[in-house]
Amino acid sequence: MYKSPSPLPESARRELCATLNERLADGLDLMSQIKVAHWNVKGPGFAALHPLFETFALSLAAHNDALAERAVTLGSLALGTARHVAQTSRIPEYPADTTRDLEHVRLIADRMEVYLEGVRSSRGVAERLADTDSVDLLTGIVTEFEKHAWFLRASLES
Ligand SMILES: [Fe+2]
Repeated sequence: MYKSPSPLPESARRELCATLNERLADGLDLMSQIKVAHWNVKGPGFAALHPLFETFALSLAAHNDALAERAVTLGSLALGTARHVAQTSRIPEYPADTTRDLEHVRLIADRMEVYLEGVRSSRGVAERLADTDSVDLLTGIVTEFEKHAWFLRASLES
C-alpha cells in the first residue's frame, strides 16, 4: 500500500481498496453493457431509451472515476482494464443479439440490481471500517442507481 492522507489503518485501507476495485470492475462492465443497449436498441421505445441509456452510462462513468480515485487516495492502485474487468466483474454477460426495446430495459434493470447489491455490500464494509467518506460516496451511487432502476422497472409495468 502507498502512503495515504487518510488516517485509517493500513489493514482497513487494504480491505476498502479491494472492495472499491470490485465495484469499479462491476461499474465498468455495466457501463459497457449499457452502451451496447444504447447502440442496438430498436422498437417503439427507441426515442426514449437511446438517450436514457446514455444518461445511465455517463452517470456510471463519473461514479467509476470517483471509486477508482478513492481507491488510489486510500493507497491502492485502481484496476480497470477491459481484461481485468472481464475476469473479475460480477455482472452477467450481456446477450449480444438483443434488439427489442423492453428486452434491453429488463436486461439492464436486472444488471443494475446486481450492481446495486455489490455497492450496498461495499458500503457495509466501509461502515464496519468507519470510513464515513467511502460510505458517503457509495450512498450517492445507491441513491442514484435505485432511481435509475425504478425508471426501468416502471417502463416494464403493464
Ligand atoms: Fe451515443
